[in-house]
Amino acid sequence: MSTPSTPAAGTRLEFPQGFLWGTATASYQIEGAVDEDGRGPSIWDTFSRTPGKVLGGDNGDVADDHYHRYPEDVAILADLGVGAYRFSVAWPRIVPTGSGAVERRGLDFYSRLVDELLGKGIQPIATLYHWDLPQGLEDADGWGNRATAYRFAEYAVEVAKVLGDRVHTWTTLNEPWCSAFLGYGSGVHAPGRTEEETSLRAAHHLNLAHGLALTAIKPYIGDAERSVTLNLHHVRAATEDPADTDAARRVDAVANRVFLGPMLAGEYPADLYADTEAITDWGFVQDGDLGLIRETPVTTLGINYYNPTLVRAAQGERAADAFDGHGNGTGTPWPGCSGVEFLQQPGPYTAMGWPVDESGLYDLLQRVSKDYPGLPLMITENGSAWEDEVSADGEVHDPQRVDYLQRHLRAAHEALSDGVDLRGYMLWSLLDNFEWAYGYSKRFGIVHVDYDTQRRILKDSGRAYRQVIADNALVL
Ligand code: NOJ
Repeated sequence: MSTPSTPAAGTRLEFPQGFLWGTATASYQIEGAVDEDGRGPSIWDTFSRTPGKVLGGDNGDVADDHYHRYPEDVAILADLGVGAYRFSVAWPRIVPTGSGAVERRGLDFYSRLVDELLGKGIQPIATLYHWDLPQGLEDADGWGNRATAYRFAEYAVEVAKVLGDRVHTWTTLNEPWCSAFLGYGSGVHAPGRTEEETSLRAAHHLNLAHGLALTAIKPYIGDAERSVTLNLHHVRAATEDPADTDAARRVDAVANRVFLGPMLAGEYPADLYADTEAITDWGFVQDGDLGLIRETPVTTLGINYYNPTLVRAAQGERAADAFDGHGNGTGTPWPGCSGVEFLQQPGPYTAMGWPVDESGLYDLLQRVSKDYPGLPLMITENGSAWEDEVSADGEVHDPQRVDYLQRHLRAAHEALSDGVDLRGYMLWSLLDNFEWAYGYSKRFGIVHVDYDTQRRILKDSGRAYRQVIADNALVL
């Protein structure tokens, strides 16, 4: 799909029967209630209270108040007609200090949420880690510490014991690239550290955590799907020049294959070791680790896609930090990529400054399904932020979000037609929410949230998505 074709008006793009439509959220971004029912502090509580880290000094203290309003939010999901809802469990609600005592009230909350979903015929897709690491673990070096992987598996078991019989898909980690390289490399995400070697160590410990957790929860989850969600970067080289294709290869290694390799193929890529040898000897990979990471393999791979990445060999001043709105930290999220320049791509651009380019989704799905044949895929996030306003008629008219959605559904449909085993699509996001370092300034929801009153308004994009779900088709 290098040149997206424009189907004639009235075209009906049917999705396969049983295709899972849903929306996605994450605990810290929507729940609020950070001090309730025994929840301990997470690295995002600490980071958002550190001056200068989050735009506007925003934090997740209240967010969408979903912790109290979840029945209303599940009712919205039911009205949308979704078949699934992807949410995350907040580790510090379950194990407040990160190790030891388990908080029953935290488990009860997710148990109530899951029952509410099932009562409306909605399949729960649970993510065990969407970035809210208990601060107690970060105090002992966080993902830089191998022990964190073992604490994660213990926590995962506590959740699986309670929800194991009711969850459709278990996802270990959300976007471990961000946890490792934005959290410990560029420092734009919590815990805000800028240590290249630690970021690679963190990536390995996240891989280990993933593997240990899947093996640990297996006895409790029956035949539920096992998964991980990666924000795979679709990396394009600016030209066919070998220097440029090598730049793309390097980025692909540290963005994608650093996780795909151990999780799906049982090894770290040799070129990644070579690219990063000046930073680390990878001595933190212990004998047997690669076996543990893949001992209990995933049954589905979750992919988050927003935009492609364009690189070339640096010409003149290196611009490795000029990447997709995440790159304004003092460290680099790209170990092993010095000499790589990230290029601005043609617009249009979303409110994040990210280019709208659905061909990257098509190409990425094709690539992954060719590299890992037989592995079912799920789009676990895709969506866009725009400068939404509530109009005089009380509605939120967001034609650009509708357009973004339609373009990406066309790309997904084309991938399906060309043989990709794509099982579902989880739109990011159900609600406007706390967009990490951007605070509440960026709105990704198909439901508008008034942060003063907590009133929810279904946007035009929400109506458009509801129609797609009802038709199981995109009608243009
Ligand atoms: C991916 C992350 O998983 C999610 O938390 C974030 O809000 C979206 N991308 C948009 O940036």
